[in-house]
Amino acid sequence: MACNARIRAEFEQGEIFLSNVEIEALIQSMTLREKLAQMTQLSAQFLMRSHTGTLTGPERALNLLPQDLRSLGSVLYWHGAEDARALQERHLREDPHRIPLLFAADIIHGYDTIYPIPLAMACSFDPPLMKDACAMAAREGTAAGIHLTFSPMADLSRDARWGRVMESGGEDPVLNAAFAAAAVEGYGGPAGPGPHTIAACVKHFAGYGGAQAGRDYNTVELSRGTLLDQYMPGYRAALDAGAAMVMASFNTIDRVPATANRWLLRDLLREQWGFDGVIITDFNAIEELVAHGVAEDSAQAAELALRAGVDIEMMSTTYLHYGEALVASGRVEMAAIDDAVRRILRLKEKLGLFEDPYRGLAAPRPLPVAPRRACAYKSAVRSMVLLKNDGVLPLRKEAALGLAGPFADTKQVFGEWAAADNSTAVTVLDGLRVAGMAHVTVAAAGALERAEGRIAEIPDQRAECAALADCDVILAAVGEHQNETGEAASRTSLRLSPNQEALIAALSALGKPVVAVVFSGRPLELSPVLEQCAAVVQAWFPGHEAGSALADLLLGREDFTARLAMSFPRSVGQMPLYYGQAATGRPFDEADPQKYVSRYLDCSNRPLFPFGYGLSYAAFAYDGLSVTPAGGGVDVTVTVRNTSDRAGTETVQVYIHDVAASVARPVRELKAFAKVHLAPGQVQQVRLHLPHEAFCFIGQELVPVFEPGLFEIYAGPNAAEGLRATIRLDA
Ligand code: GLC
Repeated sequence: MACNARIRAEFEQGEIFLSNVEIEALIQSMTLREKLAQMTQLSAQFLMRSHTGTLTGPERALNLLPQDLRSLGSVLYWHGAEDARALQERHLREDPHRIPLLFAADIIHGYDTIYPIPLAMACSFDPPLMKDACAMAAREGTAAGIHLTFSPMADLSRDARWGRVMESGGEDPVLNAAFAAAAVEGYGGPAGPGPHTIAACVKHFAGYGGAQAGRDYNTVELSRGTLLDQYMPGYRAALDAGAAMVMASFNTIDRVPATANRWLLRDLLREQWGFDGVIITDFNAIEELVAHGVAEDSAQAAELALRAGVDIEMMSTTYLHYGEALVASGRVEMAAIDDAVRRILRLKEKLGLFEDPYRGLAAPRPLPVAPRRACAYKSAVRSMVLLKNDGVLPLRKEAALGLAGPFADTKQVFGEWAAADNSTAVTVLDGLRVAGMAHVTVAAAGALERAEGRIAEIPDQRAECAALADCDVILAAVGEHQNETGEAASRTSLRLSPNQEALIAALSALGKPVVAVVFSGRPLELSPVLEQCAAVVQAWFPGHEAGSALADLLLGREDFTARLAMSFPRSVGQMPLYYGQAATGRPFDEADPQKYVSRYLDCSNRPLFPFGYGLSYAAFAYDGLSVTPAGGGVDVTVTVRNTSDRAGTETVQVYIHDVAASVARPVRELKAFAKVHLAPGQVQQVRLHLPHEAFCFIGQELVPVFEPGLFEIYAGPNAAEGLRATIRLDA
């Protein structure tokens, strides 16, 4: 106890930060119940009574004792620096051991300043852009007292029916991993904590994006081989980049919920990957082990999670209510509890909380707004994808522009996981006017209204379209309601709502070119309207600078450089849809359609728009592909030409196909990409190196293998096009 008294004395004089010795002393001085409280994370409202934070899961009474709240380890769902300071001050007064609270939040795509949803950011194919945006968000978050963000979400996403694809880096393992790592580096990465950095919690471990039928929280049936080969790289990249925490996912893996999955959390994450950071559950996930049917009651649920190595229980209290009895009965060892508390205290120490529990809160210098808005603008410009353009774009500033649809003049352009104030968000109409479009007529711009049991809908406004009959070109700003994406937002249809499809048809019937701008958090089924539109722009949910970025792109002041991070379907029936599928023994050949092959009777296998696809105002051609062994891997060289009369940026993509391996490999796998900026007519030789690891995969023994043999190498503008070469690689 003497040591603890000394620690407290020195702490009160602001002199210490805890060494491992002091952490051990602190652990020994804590009661079991205090340790269990340190392993519990609750909404701030349980500490503040008045707080009205939004919960993202089931709310219920937690039956806590006052001393449990006094010893709580971490909180989430508060908002603002004043709350954070008040919470920490009171906590340090009341916690017998004066262990600072950890403040965690969901910074998913910005905090005060909202940038495009992560799926849109991935379409930039520009990881440094993600890093910059996350660094900006971390500066805003630390000023509000945030120590850790539940981000990046690294769940590979291949089913657009699942609302959470918006939070991910898309369908490809390499791109998803690159953006997960970039996010961690932006938040704070291996450089460690600083005054404006936050720790990252990578989620949802693991395979959450594989939810059957795209239905959120549903069973995941992935082979271990596919899980390790395709779904794990994103989490691993985030950890390699310095993520300090892992959030276990709601779903089952191999029929065992991740929250209780010892293979996943102990054997793989801790033993094989050597992760010694903190594992946290998702919201209420321990209690939900009973609903999963793997625990008879909450006590057994707590035991399963403890034995699986879960350190922090989020928004349920089974550890607090049953932990003492589990230790007393020998079902859980005190050493396991101490290990968890040690990891939590070390995280707090690493974040400098013992040295400064108010890190980031000290009279925060107001961050200048301009750089943050510039970052949001640049991110939005680089993430909107031009899917179709028959020449109607770029717009002429003098054109008489009609503007219709529910996104014509709304600030609801953030998407989910964005609690920021949207009062200064730039609407489409604002952006067009500021950009100098002097003749804009708005009509049929009714808002999307939500109703239980169906997707949000607009009124039938076909009759109002006549007001736009004299316009030169009509912009239809359509999409899905921002609150119908993200968590608990699965859909069985991916089409625009019926009245929006009807609106586009009515606008098209006016005989003027229609430019559809689609605001959504997922690939939608655009086939029904594609032919009626002269141009289509996938805007996603672009954040604060939605209107300014869109206007500058539509007017040609900026060029479209983004490429799709998820395939767009012809039909929802194609889901899950992704380019990197195995060929099957009966591949369908569009050039030679046969009956008894892997195909649909009523739809092509091909996506409407493939992964990696996107148009620019500039245009590019490829030739001269060559592949040569180099440094244990392969150098891929290709010549890219800008065949247009304006400068532009192309995203050169290199894919491989392992022609014959011990397991069926995807018909293409992205292994490298690079953005090249070319002047009109400029020709550039682009060389990308594929290291030896690029040709390795998870074999039947569930470990990485390289197998000599023939490889196809593709270089081109997307997953469906490009030049092809072959190379035989030996050992
Ligand atoms: C939610 C989400 C998770 C989020 C957590 C805290 O249910 O699944 O992504 O970080 O709760 O809000």
